[in-house]
Amino acid sequence: MSSREKNASSSESSATVSPGSHIGGTLEVPGDKSISHRVAIFSALAEGTSSVIGFLQSEDCVNTLRALEAMGASTTFDEDGGLQITGSGGRLMEPAKALDFGNSGTGIRLLAGLVAGQGFPVELAGDGSLTRRPMDRICRPLAAMGAKIDFLGEPDRPPFLISGSSLTGIDYSLPVASAQVKSCLLLATLFAEGTTILHESRPTRDHTERLMRVLDVPIEVDGLQVTLEGCGPDGPVVEATEWYVPGDFSSAAFWIVSAAAREGGRVNIQNVGLNPRRTAFLDVLRRMGAEISIEVISEDDVVEPYGDIRVRGNALQGAEISGDEIPNLIDEIPLVAVLGALAEGETVIRDAEELRVKESDRIACMAGNLRSLGISVEEFPDGMRVIRPARLEPTGPVRSFGDHRIAMSMAILATYCHKPLTIKNIACTETSYPGFWGDLRHLGARVTF
Ligand code: S3P
Repeated sequence: MSSREKNASSSESSATVSPGSHIGGTLEVPGDKSISHRVAIFSALAEGTSSVIGFLQSEDCVNTLRALEAMGASTTFDEDGGLQITGSGGRLMEPAKALDFGNSGTGIRLLAGLVAGQGFPVELAGDGSLTRRPMDRICRPLAAMGAKIDFLGEPDRPPFLISGSSLTGIDYSLPVASAQVKSCLLLATLFAEGTTILHESRPTRDHTERLMRVLDVPIEVDGLQVTLEGCGPDGPVVEATEWYVPGDFSSAAFWIVSAAAREGGRVNIQNVGLNPRRTAFLDVLRRMGAEISIEVISEDDVVEPYGDIRVRGNALQGAEISGDEIPNLIDEIPLVAVLGALAEGETVIRDAEELRVKESDRIACMAGNLRSLGISVEEFPDGMRVIRPARLEPTGPVRSFGDHRIAMSMAILATYCHKPLTIKNIACTETSYPGFWGDLRHLGARVTF
């Protein structure tokens, strides 16, 4: 890492992106964040040592690894970034202190499910942003399964204490379309008696189900219904195995947008996860007129499909997104707002109220940032309408609000501006994409710290 990039890891740091005439090139993005979390959890439960290629070494995933280590797993990285995780054979240990998940909603919600049926108490905590995020969505159904949960600060928010108790399966309709909630309850069911049946209101990412199937955990999926047989308080018998984590589609999405609306823009992104529950953003881009080609290179029977994405820049038209599409592009919605600022006409986002309870209120934060560039934005409780301005003229710096996806989305928009744009407080990009700024430069953008 250069000294400038080291600078970028202080919380006060900022990046200035100057107008560039050219964006193009080939790159790989770091491993998928959602899959990395889950692979770590299943490896920590397994008997023996699992090896993971492509594990995402970002702050969020490393916090989850630390939490699993505190409960008995051991982990080592080799020089090439390969990870070995030795599991506890299903017998987790009481951690000596509170588990700190930093910024990670996925980490805290998935591990809450994992620990709920263990025979010991665990305190789960996080940073300032995580402490503002709702936990009732997992704590209510976990309590209905028999978990005992006490909020230690504000109700419905971390930190909270789960005092291990015996669990029974639950028949439950998820009130929010959330893979984190679904996965939390599936992990809790691994240590429960009886059967859990979950009814989703909309399809959400299915990484947990796919990994369970590979591990011979008795899970059945029928449309929007997921059924899992509990393994009882001793938990499942899981074999150690070898995992490959493909590149994170949500990270690739930044580079797709960096080229998609630019005449002459050309980007190839290799080995990217192409799970259909993650790629609704490609459908939106195509509706907007983007020129994108996909080559699936994984074998037919792989756990998570992956391949290469090729983008050729084009003039884009505005689009509308809503309904079932939303959970399958939930993390890309700040980029849909960016596309709205670049596409002819208007772009409308609806049914995305979940964005208000992500790492920041992503509707309010993106709307404020876009307005500061002269873009007309109408905010709705569940989304926004964005209208492209005549020119993108920054009038001052924009903020990340400590949210990695806001910081990176604004950096991509900056490459389309007519003047340099400064993004403040960029250390948060380490949450999901270490190396983001280096990759932005690699594609031709001019970035100073
Ligand atoms: C995730 C699910 C999504 C997504 C998050 C990761 C996961 O959250 O926003 O970044 O790994 O399960 P919700 O399922 O709560 O919407």
